[in-house]
Order: sequence, then C-alpha cells, then structure tokens
Amino acid sequence: MPDTPAWPSPARRFSPPARYCAANHFRHFTRGRYALGEAFRLAGIGRQGALLAPAYHCVTMLDPALALDAEIHLYPLQADLSPDPMALERLLGTIQRPVKALLATHYFGIAQDFSHLKAWCVDHGIALIEDCSHVLLTEHFRAAGTGIHGHFVTSSPYKFFACDDGGLLYAADAQRLDPVATTPATLIEELRGLKNAVERSRGRTLPSRDSASIDERLELLSATKLDWGNDQLIDRDGPSSLFSIASATTSSLRSSRFVVDHSSIDENIQRRRENYQRWVRTVAAVPNCRALFPLLPADCTPYMFPLHIDHPNPHFHWLKHLGVPIWRWDEMADSTCEISCDHRLHLLHLPCHQALTEGQMDWMTAALEKTLRHAVEGVQ
Ligand SMILES: Cc1ncc(COP(=O)(O)O)c(C=O)c1O
Repeated sequence: MPDTPAWPSPARRFSPPARYCAANHFRHFTRGRYALGEAFRLAGIGRQGALLAPAYHCVTMLDPALALDAEIHLYPLQADLSPDPMALERLLGTIQRPVKALLATHYFGIAQDFSHLKAWCVDHGIALIEDCSHVLLTEHFRAAGTGIHGHFVTSSPYKFFACDDGGLLYAADAQRLDPVATTPATLIEELRGLKNAVERSRGRTLPSRDSASIDERLELLSATKLDWGNDQLIDRDGPSSLFSIASATTSSLRSSRFVVDHSSIDENIQRRRENYQRWVRTVAAVPNCRALFPLLPADCTPYMFPLHIDHPNPHFHWLKHLGVPIWRWDEMADSTCEISCDHRLHLLHLPCHQALTEGQMDWMTAALEKTLRHAVEGVQ
C-alpha cells in the first residue's frame, strides 16, 4: 500500500478549489461516523475481525463497529491522549479473534505522531484508521502532521464549516475504495441542507445574560439541590440512536462540499486559534481546573478547548444550567484506562469555533471563571 499522502504539505486555501489528487482517493458521507463505518468494513471488521479502539471515545466512534457486530477492545491512553504502546502490546496478546484494525484519534485537533503506531500495525497485519474527526481535513487541506499514516483516514468537515453535513473517507491506496459506492442526496435533501446552512451561517445564539446575572444565577444554583443526572455507564451491544443504517452510504450534500471548498481556511484557523488562546489565558489563574493542552502547537487548528475540572459535581451541572455550551463524553464504554475513566466526567470540551463573536467569548469566559471560583460545599 503506498505510504505517500495524496495532499501536499503545507496546503492553505484554494480559490477556485484545486484538486491535488484524484477524486478517487476520497469518498464523501454525511458524517464522519459513516466514513469510519466504511473504513472498518474495508479493513475486515465484523464478526470475524476485531477492532482496537481508544478507551477515551464518544459513542459515534464505536457505533459503526457495533453496527458490524464486531468485537471491540479498548486500549489505554497516556496523559497526552496518545496510545500507550506497552499496554497495546499486552492487550493484543489477550485477544483470540484476528484484530483487523486500530482506530487512532487526534483529539481536539492536536496532532499525534502515529509513525510508530503505523509500524506496529503493519508488523501485526492491522490496518491503521486515522480518526481526523477533530482535525481540519478536507479534500484540499490537511492540518500538519495528520492524515499521513493511516491506511484509511476519516474526517468530519461539517465540524469546521458552516455546512449541513460532511464526512470524508480517504485511502492512500485509492484502489481500496473501489468497492465503496455512495448514493447522492435527493433534491429535497439538498434544499433542506441549503436552508440549514444559511441559518447556521448566522451563528449560534447564547444566553444574552450579563455578567451580574451570572452571579445571581450562581447564587440560586448553589442554594438549590440539583439532580446530578444519571452518570451510569451504558453497556451497548448495538449502535446508538445517533447511527442510522439508512444513512450509512448517503453522500454529503453538494452544497456542503461547496461551502467547504469556498470558505477561507486561513480565517478559520486564525479565529479558532485566537479563541483557544483566549480560553488558555482565562483559565491560567482560575482555581479548580487545568487546561489539558495549554500550549497550542504552531500548526494546529483546534477543534475544541479541553479543560479538566476538579469538581464536576457541581461545576459541570452549574455550567450546563447557566447555558454554557459544554460537552463531555460521559456515555463512553468502561475500560481499565484510568485516564479515560477520569476524563469521562472531568474533561470538558469548550467551543472555540471560528463563528463565535467577541461578546459570546466574553460571556462564556466570564461564566466559566465565576462558576469555577464559586465555593463548593465541603471543599476549602
Ligand atoms: C473523535 C471523534 N471521532 C469520530 C466522530 C464521529 O464524527 P461525526 O460526528 O462526523 O460522525 C466523533 C464525533 O463527534 C468524534 O468526536
């Protein structure tokens, strides 16, 4: 299989969009999860072939393997969220079924060096599937250090652009994609996508509360007995409701691809980096938390800002009640990886999207800072 990536590096913006490699290296899907599904299938994942997947994951990373009825083995990660090589070796020795693929993720857009992992996979006859869902990676641009090593590479352009959908599958060896056929979206779907894209381009609305009302709301929240919700782990034997077999082979909308091809990559990178750095500066002096990656690598386009908090109960819930758009992967499957088990409840994903305005960043950073400074019962 050729190792040479189809993209030149570095690549920036193309107007009109230029294709550097033949389109047959790519297949378009509505979401990254369906691109992953095809990569898994092509690698031989299914009843006869097992998958090695990272212990830190969201449900949509495993859904496509569960849809193929595959055995999934979760491998542990190190503190920087790179795969733990010793633990991987030990884990492989315990698996009875042939392991056909390993999924490796560049979390939050921070590029990992997968060169050794690739060599390890090749030695063991395992396909490396590089998960670039958090990476700015399109047919015309890939962030430095990503999309190079995977036999298959998948990404989620809809996460980085104002478009309605978009999942990309790339194979260094274009012939491996020969059996992949996708169905184009219908005219109605195209029109709906256009409408959604226009609405999305207007930006998202955040609660229009001023800084004083954050204090008031926090006083109220801290005096209220909140329901922390259900933090139980869910043991699934099939895909979640976020995975639709019916959509698995539908290709992304033409309008989505147009938006991706004609948006300014440079502006996107610059705005995301500014917002990420703003979070880093905000949390530097705030107690009860730490930035997971305080140093943003020079070539990196961040997807989200990962923040580790000491007291998810109550801080996560207070932030949610205030209306701060935060996420965490609390539905992940259980594993022996201490880091992933900790991050399940303690690691927040904060937005750094290019469309966020100064006012929105002001409000979110104020809400975060005030919340994390707010006294927690029983903690000095
Ligand atoms: C790391 C990672 N990989 C894959 C996926 C699946 O991506 P998509 O939402 O495009 O299906 C996600 C979803 O958020 C993700 O976070």
